[in-house]
Amino acid sequence: MNIRQARTEDLLGMQNCNLSNLPENYVLKFYLYHALSWPQLSYVATVPTDDGGEKIVGYVMAKMEDDPANNAIQPDENDEAAKNEPFVPHGHITSVSVMRTYRRMGLAAKLMRQSMRAMTECFGAKYVSLHVRESNKAALHLYRDSLKYEVMKVEKKYYMDGEDAYAMKKVFVHED
Ligand code: ACO
Repeated sequence: MNIRQARTEDLLGMQNCNLSNLPENYVLKFYLYHALSWPQLSYVATVPTDDGGEKIVGYVMAKMEDDPANNAIQPDENDEAAKNEPFVPHGHITSVSVMRTYRRMGLAAKLMRQSMRAMTECFGAKYVSLHVRESNKAALHLYRDSLKYEVMKVEKKYYMDGEDAYAMKKVFVHED
């Protein structure tokens, strides 16, 4: 198993992995937008194939937040003081998944750590955010228990099917 930075030729493999593992799917140009804008932040886990190639079995796709409205995880719309706080550079994990046969081997944690390290080293990120379904026990364990993210708030009906999301955040104290 190998973990390396994602390249543009990996985008179809990442999209395939995403389609197999998550209901939140994206058009190819969304992957391209991440790869071209923040190439340092997305990673793939690969295994060798019989024909000498490689197959993508996991990925993390991440970005630097570029929308000031998302400063400090969408402040309360009535909180004028929070809205006016200076913009803090921070990363966002857009999507992470690992093919079923390759789960519980530490791949997602490694992919996430690589991306988070690049956020601080390349872009000076002060923290990283993400959203996760309230019912997603595996991902919650990964974020909260393994990687020490905190739940900041519940976003009601965040997902298309009406499920609530936890908005989570990890402040970068020192590199980890
Ligand atoms: N139940 C409980 N704990 C779990 C589970 C599970 N099903 N799966 C993993 N964990 C724990 C591991 O034991 C490990 O804990 P430890 O650090 O205490 O040893 C920790 O989570 C990390 O495990 P990894 O092996 O690194 O995780 P894995 O490679 O299996 O990937 C993932 C976890 C990405 C959630 C995987 O289950 C998956 O692809 N699920 C479907 C897609 C998904 O839900 N993605 C996240 C959506 S949210 C978002 O993308 C921002």
